[in-house]
Amino acid sequence: MVQHYRSAMEALRINLVLALLLFQVTVVFSITDSNDVDILNQFRKGLENPELLQWPENGDDPCGSGWKHVFCAGNRVSQIQVKGLGLKGPLPQNLNKLSRLENLGLQRNNFSGMIPSLSGLSELKFAYLDFNEFDSIPLDFFDGLVSLQVMALDYNDLNATAGWSLPVELQNSAQLRNLSCMSCNLVGPLPDFLGSMSSLAVLEIVSE
Ligand SMILES: *[C@@H]1O[C@H](CO)[C@@H](O)[C@H](O)[C@H]1NC(C)=O
Ligand SMILES: *[C@@H]1O[C@H](CO)[C@@H](O)[C@H](O)[C@H]1NC(C)=O
Ligand SMILES: *[C@@H]1O[C@H](CO)[C@@H](O)[C@H](O)[C@H]1NC(C)=O
Repeated sequence: MVQHYRSAMEALRINLVLALLLFQVTVVFSITDSNDVDILNQFRKGLENPELLQWPENGDDPCGSGWKHVFCAGNRVSQIQVKGLGLKGPLPQNLNKLSRLENLGLQRNNFSGMIPSLSGLSELKFAYLDFNEFDSIPLDFFDGLVSLQVMALDYNDLNATAGWSLPVELQNSAQLRNLSCMSCNLVGPLPDFLGSMSSLAVLEIVSE
């Protein structure tokens, strides 16, 4: 009986040590927030040519193992920079779940479909979406972009049938310096609120 008890204790101790070891291994090998990993994987899965990203096939740690074109602050993704890689296809509509994104460089690719909403990305300062093949922009795109400094949307054939206009929510981007949207189908008069945005230094929204 005593013997039995002792060996049970021994087994428990070994299990405990194993569990601790496994925990450490996990911590050492994957530091990236698992939701961020999930969104990056959705990002690549939607593309027709994801191999151009050169992200490891079964990788799960973009921050810890340094995936190309991805930059992190601690365990969170803070930048995606894929300018001019020739990426083709749609993007996940929940891209804004990368909630610590500060700088998004998607310009000069062949991204298509609806631009993902950036709604709620309170740390986003720079967003370059220009020179792509996006065909529409969601209504809540600009909501809550309180840190935004630069937004480039040029040369995307957005909402071509009806055109679209800058929503009043953009007013809350009080640090906005550059806003460019040439050939992106803005219609109607310039909204009045733009005139009261004192930060705005560059505004390029000529349609061609
Ligand atoms: C990708 O877009 C570029 C212009 O940005 C265009 O010249 C090229 O034909 C497009 N490629 C494909 C495969 O659609
Ligand atoms: C653009 O078109 C889409 C789909 O037709 C629509 O849901 C969206 O509200 C439009 N965007 C703007 C800013 O009006
Ligand atoms: C802001 O716009 C100006 C004029 O187009 C340009 O020279 C400058 O590089 C832009 N700044 C950023 C950070 O994109």
